[in-house]
Amino acid sequence: MAHRRIGIVMHGVTGRIGTNQHLVNSILAIRREGGLPLSNGDRLMPDPILVGRNVEKLQALAATTGIERWTTDLDAALADPQDEIFFDSAYTATRPALARRAIAAGKHIYLEKPVAPTLEEVLDLRRAAEAAGVKHAVVQDKLFLPGLAKLRLLKDQGFFGRLLSVRIDFGWWVFDGEQVPAQRSSWNYRLADGGGLVLDMFPHWRYIMEGLFGRPTSVTCHIRTAQPHRRDERGRPYTVDVEDEARALLELEDGVVAEINASWANRVRRDDLLTITAEGTLGSAVAGLHRCVVQPLSTTPKPVWNVDVPAAQDLYAQWAPVPDLLPLKNSYRMAWEAFLRHVAEDGPNRASLIEAAKGLQLIEACHASHRERRWIDLPDLGG
Ligand SMILES: NC(=O)c1ccc[n+]([C@@H]2O[C@H](COP(=O)([O-])OP(=O)(O)OC[C@H]3O[C@@H](n4cnc5c(N)ncnc54)[C@H](O)[C@@H]3O)[C@@H](O)[C@H]2O)c1
Repeated sequence: MAHRRIGIVMHGVTGRIGTNQHLVNSILAIRREGGLPLSNGDRLMPDPILVGRNVEKLQALAATTGIERWTTDLDAALADPQDEIFFDSAYTATRPALARRAIAAGKHIYLEKPVAPTLEEVLDLRRAAEAAGVKHAVVQDKLFLPGLAKLRLLKDQGFFGRLLSVRIDFGWWVFDGEQVPAQRSSWNYRLADGGGLVLDMFPHWRYIMEGLFGRPTSVTCHIRTAQPHRRDERGRPYTVDVEDEARALLELEDGVVAEINASWANRVRRDDLLTITAEGTLGSAVAGLHRCVVQPLSTTPKPVWNVDVPAAQDLYAQWAPVPDLLPLKNSYRMAWEAFLRHVAEDGPNRASLIEAAKGLQLIEACHASHRERRWIDLPDLGG
């Protein structure tokens, strides 16, 4: 068994998702376990260099993680041929320009979603990456969540029979910063910075739909700014110029209908912050991030509708949990492992930039649907 090093330029990892998920739970976790096992028995050891704008933040992150290489000079990092991969999890607005620089420097690119604000830009990036002969992928972590893996298992076992409908309920209350500080960065609520709930979350809904239930073929969507006034990280008031709520209805292949209800202005009374409900002729399931419960046809009760007395049935008790049969690993790490194997040994890549493009296609269709108050078709982009 040999150890093989792989250098990764990690940009934007001082941010929330970059530090917690990509660096600590993924790259550092792989390093701690002695590298990623490859199919020939070798182990691939990721060697990150942390890149950002703020020296103090970088120094602090380097100190807490034990990563020795860091810099504020992205050009110098990109110029180093020892680092093969460029990764970006900084705020959304700068991503396409950064990715273009990385491609020009011959790096393989792995990018947080959304890859770019428009479909055209994602397709341009893909063309550039293909022309340069570099590998490319977008972060698609959610399919690796235990709750969603259970849904996949159920589907593969034929649990649902004929799939009828799907519902995604997502969100929680994001404070406006008046009395209680907001728990999300202010750029998320500004158009120029790549904010907006549809751009933020619909990339996930797109690959979850196709990965689990079927390709979306058309969409109608209503968006709204529920909280137009917020205060930023320093307490300064600003006006929100993007949506913080979106309600979409999608038609999928094979006649399945999907609803999406996503909001930064709702208070949660359901099983999890994200729940996915799938209804089928032979059974239904509700998955959260980790747990999943089912109600097969064989145990489906006949509910009693009675307007005269409070409900006697405990409707939640009529569902059974799906046990934890599959090995548990952090979902971002699973996505990293797939990309690293794709780069190191040409392993399969289910998250190339054409998949990112499908997300942007849905995003643009949602905005167009709201603007024009009509259904929008989603032609197959292939891939
Ligand atoms: N895969 C997922 O489920 C998932 C989850 C959360 C966030 N994300 C994506 O990751 C990216 C970062 O999100 P986050 O929640 O970590 O955000 P964050 O605000 O915590 O971090 C943003 C990072 O971008 C950097 N940055 C660079 N230029 C900036 C500028 N001009 N203004 C503000 N910040 C700037 C910040 O220093 C920071 O490191 C976003 O593109 C977001 O869509 C993906």
